[in-house]
Amino acid sequence: MSTTTVTTSTGTAARVADAVKVYGSGDTAVRALDGVSVTFPAGRFTAIMGPSGSGKSTLMHCAAGLDTLTSGAAFIGDTELGRLDDRRLTLLRRDRVGFVFQAFNLVPTLTVAENITLPMDLAGRRADAASAEWTDALVDIVGLRDRLHHLPAELSGGQQQRVAVARAFAGRPDVVFADEPTGNLDSRSGEEVLGLLGRAVRRMDRTVVMVTHDPVAAAHADEVVFLADGRLVDRMESPTAERVLDRMKAFDGKGAPS
Ligand SMILES: Nc1ncnc2c1ncn2[C@@H]1O[C@H](COP(=O)(O)OP(=O)(O)OP(=O)(O)O)[C@@H](O)[C@H]1O
Ligand SMILES: [Mg+2]
Repeated sequence: MSTTTVTTSTGTAARVADAVKVYGSGDTAVRALDGVSVTFPAGRFTAIMGPSGSGKSTLMHCAAGLDTLTSGAAFIGDTELGRLDDRRLTLLRRDRVGFVFQAFNLVPTLTVAENITLPMDLAGRRADAASAEWTDALVDIVGLRDRLHHLPAELSGGQQQRVAVARAFAGRPDVVFADEPTGNLDSRSGEEVLGLLGRAVRRMDRTVVMVTHDPVAAAHADEVVFLADGRLVDRMESPTAERVLDRMKAFDGKGAPS
């Protein structure tokens, strides 16, 4: 292996190369991803933006091992997902990837504390001192110390999503993928959740990849990647809501940039 290869893979939390995803076949086939190559660097907050139907969720699902590519390759760190059997893929999703969805997906019969540690409990991971300390720090960061023994139904939507965020980071995964995590929240709760994701990246050296179609949400990221018609069409460093909005306007419903 050449040194160049080693250098490029260092510091990469996840990536896809020449990713193609075709849903269905024949006349009804939809090419949701049409040759996307993108790297999600470790320790960074990346947002994926693009018009509805541009392939954002498909890209996230394939990069996270929730769905498989038609061709091309997806990696978490140096592990190529397409080379794993079902059991190894399940383990990888459990141990190395965290998820936050638009619907909070908490277990209604478990308390806040139990929901947060659920992935580790399912994995049968021992609550060693380091992980107990980590979970404890997370509880403070998401501001849920006084709600630990409540059930999800006793919390506001914003609080529930903060539990989901804590749960996603609890197992110290290589990367947390979030698909429209603020889609069901009012703007203030949304800001809290976005602030949390940003702090996890900047203060706790975590990696976040977030799908959104809200320019204000995207502005919390270090970098925005833009999809149109299943292709990567642009990237923007240090985004502001205004610049992201301008870039989105350029798509102008045509799918492709003007
Ligand atoms: N399971 C599926 N079967 C068939 N087509 C699908 C399936 N999932 C997605 N698609 C199609 O693939 C394309 C990309 O969909 P995707 O959900 O990735 O878009 P998106 O950018 O996340 O859109 P949105 O902003 O509306 O969530 C769309 O044309 C969609 O209709
Ligand atoms: Mg989507």
